[in-house]
Amino acid sequence: MKNVELFNVSKSYEKQKEVISDISVSIEPGEFFVLVGPSGCGKSTILRMIAGLEDITKGSLRIDGNEVNLLPPSKRDISMVFQNYALYPHLNVEENIVFGLDVKKVKKFERKERCMEVAEMLGLTDYLKRKPRHLSGGQRQRVALARAIVNQAPICLMDEPLSNLDAKLRAHMRSEIRQIQRKLKITMIYVTHDQVEAMTMGDRIMILNEGKIQQVGKPIDVYNAPANPFVAQFIGSPPMNLATANINLSKQELSIGGRLKLSIPSNDLQSYQEDTVTLGIRPEYLKIVNSINTKSTNNYLDVKVEHVEVLGNETIVSFQLDTYRWQAKWNGQWNVDVGDIVPIAINYESICLFNSASGHLIKGPTQVENHIIHEVTV
Ligand SMILES: Nc1ncnc2c1ncn2[C@@H]1O[C@H](COP(=O)(O)OP(=O)(O)OP(=O)(O)O)[C@@H](O)[C@H]1O
Ligand SMILES: [Mg+2]
Repeated sequence: MKNVELFNVSKSYEKQKEVISDISVSIEPGEFFVLVGPSGCGKSTILRMIAGLEDITKGSLRIDGNEVNLLPPSKRDISMVFQNYALYPHLNVEENIVFGLDVKKVKKFERKERCMEVAEMLGLTDYLKRKPRHLSGGQRQRVALARAIVNQAPICLMDEPLSNLDAKLRAHMRSEIRQIQRKLKITMIYVTHDQVEAMTMGDRIMILNEGKIQQVGKPIDVYNAPANPFVAQFIGSPPMNLATANINLSKQELSIGGRLKLSIPSNDLQSYQEDTVTLGIRPEYLKIVNSINTKSTNNYLDVKVEHVEVLGNETIVSFQLDTYRWQAKWNGQWNVDVGDIVPIAINYESICLFNSASGHLIKGPTQVENHIIHEVTV
C-alpha cells in the first residue's frame, strides 16, 4: 500500500491561466479517494499529473514520501483507466487484459489465472476471445477496467470508468470496484462527476470547482456540513435549497422574505455579525405540517405546489419561495397536486447558514436524522 501526497500543486497550460490552483491533499495508503466536480474543473488534469502524463507547473507530488515530479510514468508503479480509454483493436479481450503483464514479464500461467479472475469479477468471461469492435461500449469499458485491475499496481487511477454503463450495471460495478479495491488493498484515486458515485464509493471525497479545492472529507460529513453553497448544491439530490435570509439580532430572529421567521437561540447569537446570510436546507428536512399545534409557531410557510414527482418510494414537490425554486422530498407516496397549498415547516436545527460574502459555512444542521440498530442478530 502506498500513499500519494500533493503539496501546493498548480497547473497551467502554455502560460495560460491556471487550471489547477494550489492543491494540497494527502491520500492514505489503501484509501478509496474520490475526485468529484463539474465538467472542466480539472479532475482529469490532476489524475494525469499523478500518473506522470502531464507536467506539474508548481508544487510537489510525492509517493511514499519521495518526490516523483520528474519520474517517468512507467517508473511510478501506477495503473490507470483513462476517460478516453483505447483498446488494441487487433487483440482480443484476453490479450487486451493481459497486455501490460506481458510487458512486466509475468509468467504465462499466472497471467491466465489473473485474467480469468478479473474477467469473472467484471462479467467478461464469455467475451475473452472477441475483438473490441464486436463489443458494446459498456463491455469495452469493462475491458479497460480489467486491464487496470489485473496489473495489481499498488496505486490505481480511474477516470470516470463507469460512464458508458447503464444505471443497473453501474450500480453493480460500483460495489464490484469497491470490493476489488479492498481485497487488493489498492490506493485508489477515482474521478467522477456523479455525486452518487462519490457518496457511495469514497472513503473520502474531494470536491473541486474551477481547479480549486472546495472541501475534502468523508461523504457523510460533506453532506451534513457542506463547506459552502457550491458543495451544498453539488452533493445531494435534489440539491440543497438556498435563499438569502435576514438576521435581526435585537429580535433574535432570522427571516426569509418577511414570510418565514425563525427564532435564533441565545447561544448562537454571537456567531452572526452580518445582516444577511445564505440559508440552506436539504429537501428531506422540509416537513409537511400535519398538526395544528405546529402551525401555532412561526416556522411554517404555506406554499403553492408547482410540480410533483412521485417516484414510488418518495415524493418530490417543487414550489416557489420568493425568487427561489425549492424542492421538498418526503418518504413514500403523497397525494399532492399542482396548485395545492401545503404548509411546510422549517426548523432552525435543520438549516445551514453560510456567510453571504465568503460563502463559508457558519452553522450546519444540529439535528441529523441518524438511525441506529440497537440489536443485531447474526
Ligand atoms: N492540453 C490542454 N491545453 C489547454 N487547456 C487544457 C488542456 N487540457 C485540459 N485543458 C483545460 O483544463 C481544464 C480542466 O480540464 P480537465 O480535462 O482536467 O477537466 P475535467 O474536470 O476532467 O472535465 P470532464 O468532467 O469534462 O472530463 C479545462 O478548462 C480544459 O479546457
Ligand atoms: Mg475529465
